[in-house]
Amino acid sequence: MQKRLHVWRRPASLGLLSVLCASCSGAQSALDPAGASAHRIADLFWWMAVGTLVVWAAVAALAIWCVRAREAHGDTRRVKLLIVGGGALVPTIILIGLLIYGLGMMPSMLAPAPPGSLRISVSGERWWWRVRYEPGTPEEVTLANEIRLPVNEPVDFFLESPDVIHSFWIPAIGGKMDMIPGRVTRLTLKPTRTGRFRGQCAEYCGTSHALMAFEVLVVERDQFDAWLAQQRQPAAEPAAQRLVDGRDAFFLNGCSSCHTIRGTPARGIMGPDLTHVGSRLSLGAGILPNETPAFARWIAHTDTVKPAVLMPHWSMLPEEELVALSAYLESLQ
Ligand code: CUA
Repeated sequence: MQKRLHVWRRPASLGLLSVLCASCSGAQSALDPAGASAHRIADLFWWMAVGTLVVWAAVAALAIWCVRAREAHGDTRRVKLLIVGGGALVPTIILIGLLIYGLGMMPSMLAPAPPGSLRISVSGERWWWRVRYEPGTPEEVTLANEIRLPVNEPVDFFLESPDVIHSFWIPAIGGKMDMIPGRVTRLTLKPTRTGRFRGQCAEYCGTSHALMAFEVLVVERDQFDAWLAQQRQPAAEPAAQRLVDGRDAFFLNGCSSCHTIRGTPARGIMGPDLTHVGSRLSLGAGILPNETPAFARWIAHTDTVKPAVLMPHWSMLPEEELVALSAYLESLQ
């Protein structure tokens, strides 16, 4: 029986260990840092984990020492030592050390990027992200639900919201920052390695808070420049008849009153800019793959894919029109 238990215990502990390790890595893990401030936050986490272990071990050792002394020769004086030492002294010394270490990090994490650095404005909408590169300059370009960054360069984020409080968070690259209606908050991030990461709203903001994510792609500077130059271009003219039908459906159904497609008369600003929507890594703010069937599902069932979203569902569209519209949007590379 003892032996069988042993055999069971090993795979179970290996399984637990692999689950714990898996939760430390990945595109949305603060413990798999890929940014300057994320590295500091991860260091702080590990030092705090060590600190709590030391406090726990010291208190447990003192308690065992006291109990043994009392059992052996009725000595109760050591109980005072347990209360003063384990209850106050050891935790106070260790927590003050951790507090000083944590506070010491703040100035460097709150410092703005040097002048001339890339500036990105992000507005938290219900429930998606309006992204503007170089806001307020002639180079300004509006995108949505995706942020690409050049590696090893500090970037200044200006964060805002028109209605409810959101929180902007790319766990692998840095700490979170609230987006508060009526004010602009600032966050500087510096990604330190290339890769694909995931951001997520970190403040409960309504029904579809959990469905408010975004993609982050960190690339080399030349790739970044090429991508941004391409995003500044107006939308391509549809090449095939089916795509022309899709564009017609877009205008006939009034989509242009909420969405912009640069290079066409569509100038709506309620919803995400769709000029290059087909080139994005996901749809619906990080929740669907960027494919024609996913476009169709989104357009026809916004109410179930993202409950309480402001965009109405267009389930009344004939199948053929829906497919053509989806194909047109996907062709906007
Ligand atoms: Cu936006 Cu939660």
